[in-house]
Amino acid sequence: MNASTTTSTKYEQRTIHNPDGIGKFYMGREIAHVMGHTGAMWLERPSREAEEQPSKIVNALELKPNNVVADIGAGTGYLSFLMAPTLTQGKVLAVDIQPEMLDIINFFKEEKHIDNVEPILATLNSPNLPPESIDLAVMVDAYHEFEYPYEVMEGIAKALKPGGRVALVEYRGENPFIMIKGLHKMTQKQVKKEMQTVGLTWQETKNLLPQQHLMLFIKA
Ligand SMILES: C[S@@+](CC[C@H](N)C(=O)[O-])C[C@H]1O[C@@H](n2cnc3c(N)ncnc32)[C@H](O)[C@@H]1O
Repeated sequence: MNASTTTSTKYEQRTIHNPDGIGKFYMGREIAHVMGHTGAMWLERPSREAEEQPSKIVNALELKPNNVVADIGAGTGYLSFLMAPTLTQGKVLAVDIQPEMLDIINFFKEEKHIDNVEPILATLNSPNLPPESIDLAVMVDAYHEFEYPYEVMEGIAKALKPGGRVALVEYRGENPFIMIKGLHKMTQKQVKKEMQTVGLTWQETKNLLPQQHLMLFIKA
């Protein structure tokens, strides 16, 4: 080990690294900075539906009315509130590490008169979900900034009911024409490698979004 590099079993810390990242590497990938709550307006921008077509994600998930869905890295709950109306006998657990994001989710719950979105405060290394409690975990543009991806995914895998699914949406790392910072994109190859490590099996990738891929995994 040289002076500029420290390693743990799963992670490596480097002093020379991309300024958009935290200098911590996991399975060859540098982890990006967390998007702070002051960027909340960006998540709610009116042009988002036209640019990213997030409602297509909800259609593609084939949710059942009684499903319990965890939206991990929920931010302002943009996706949570899109999914909630379909879950007439179920609910969304909107999980985030920033209490300010959960405040916004609580504000929107009242504004939109939607009761079945439950904010949950996570820690950096745990989604704080009970074992075998969720049918599906959704992560939209969030996983690449988890500081402890292995531990969080292990927590998610434990929280899934048998046969439960994970849906991971990230900007396509394979495509250099997608004008998003490199560390905010992921390749399918990298995602598959990281999910396999926590025992999740790739099922399919849906290429229905303009800039992101929607990858589906199942807990065996
Ligand atoms: C770029 S935002 C995306 C928000 C939302 N998914 C959306 O698409 O509108 C990423 C969110 O992930 C959250 N986050 C980062 N690390 C996390 C972790 N370890 N556990 C849960 N949430 C996390 C951040 O606080 C932030 O709100």
